[in-house]
Amino acid sequence: MQTIKNYIHTHQQRFLNELFELLRFPSVSANPAHQPDIINTANFVAQQLVLAGADAVEVCQTAGNPIVYGHKIIDETLPTVLVYGHYDVQPPEPLELWHTPPFEPTIRDGKIYARGACDDKGQFYMHIKAFELMMQTNTLPCNIKFMIEGEEEVGSDNLGDFVIANKQKLKADVVLISDTSMISMENPSLETGLRGLAYMEVEVTGPNKDLHSGVYGGAVANPATILCQMIASLHNENNRVNIPGFYDNIIELNSAERKELNAAPFNLTDYKTDLGIDDVWGESGYTTIERTGIRPTLEVNGIWGGYTGVGAKTVLPSKANAKISMRLVPGQCWRNISDLFTAHFKAIAPPSVKVNVVAHHGGKPYVTPTHSIAYKAAQLAIEEAFGKKPVPTRGGGSIPIVALFEEELGIKTVLMGFGLDSDSLHSPNEKYDVFNFYKGIETIPLFYKHFTALSNQ
Ligand code: BES
Ligand code: MN
Ligand code: MN
Repeated sequence: MQTIKNYIHTHQQRFLNELFELLRFPSVSANPAHQPDIINTANFVAQQLVLAGADAVEVCQTAGNPIVYGHKIIDETLPTVLVYGHYDVQPPEPLELWHTPPFEPTIRDGKIYARGACDDKGQFYMHIKAFELMMQTNTLPCNIKFMIEGEEEVGSDNLGDFVIANKQKLKADVVLISDTSMISMENPSLETGLRGLAYMEVEVTGPNKDLHSGVYGGAVANPATILCQMIASLHNENNRVNIPGFYDNIIELNSAERKELNAAPFNLTDYKTDLGIDDVWGESGYTTIERTGIRPTLEVNGIWGGYTGVGAKTVLPSKANAKISMRLVPGQCWRNISDLFTAHFKAIAPPSVKVNVVAHHGGKPYVTPTHSIAYKAAQLAIEEAFGKKPVPTRGGGSIPIVALFEEELGIKTVLMGFGLDSDSLHSPNEKYDVFNFYKGIETIPLFYKHFTALSNQ
């Protein structure tokens, strides 16, 4: 432990400078204009892996953004950890809401502000620095492989093919990911689940062109109004999703499991204050922790139509659109849910409009077994670094590729995230605490130590 702390202390400024370099690349995967930045970021990550001591470092081309691979095999008979992360980031918009520019990392109050600071550059970079630390202090106890992709924020379209085509190369005993949250640094936690996702886009079309709202309004269906009515009907009076079959097959938690989940520290008043809301909302009969962890949900991610420019224009729009996504829990299949949504949305449309529904990407939910050696190693590492046992939690977000790791590679994933839900992931002013960054670098080598020791027993 002292070796770890000393190494981090000696190199702390350089670690931060390097992370800042990484954060300056605007590697926005959703925007094709950033393609050159994506390539530059992948090359930078590859270079950092080489500098940290990795062998066989490659920037692997795919039909989309490249995947960075590198490894250190010290002994084929020892266990192997596969580290997964993503170097792409969400679009930073709306820019005017950032206090400092998203790609000029800035420290304020001990927090690094930048797009990707927490999701996921700041988090996967901890793994590269922990690896460097283990190499430099001769403490790497097992084999390590890195796979850092550039399409996580847009659905990891090409990672699946890469994994299937490279099963031998990616052979490992566990996947280790830092791309989730902890409750707080005082209440360290380990996420034991991720929700799945089904992402839909709908278009409601009324008349064959935009119309004068005085000449035609009241006599012709307004697609914006109809779309709002249809969307409003997707939740019932108990805020349950109103799509037939939506809750079928869900694997419910028993009361002991629910009790354990709700025992995690959570302060509803602070939660509301943080978000500037007077009350929470959600499915009747469930707590906020349950609503964001073990229950499926439906959200409108965007809605548009008609005139949204300056001033006023009296128009009855021809079309209205929305992007709608559903978070899924174990038992739900995203393809099936996408089909149920499509059928239902078409069925509730009045004859005065036409509806088109497109299913975008989806992903399966995932639950980490808590009896595995790898999970125990993560528990022990956190306990040693934080002086406190981690609480198991269920994360609300999704990392769809995790289920595929299990299906195609046959390996389980441990989600050892060091972010906070309040780090403004995907929002303006995303941040990551400098403290969490160093704490992660301190905890990761302990994971390797415990994982190797437990594997040898
Ligand atoms: N790192 C997040 C997922 C996450 C965040 C999990 C916090 C648990 C806690 C990841 O980068 C992400 O944003 N995933 C997307 C899914 C993807 C298909 C766009 C998400 O959850 O919306
Ligand atoms: Mn992420
Ligand atoms: Mn994300």
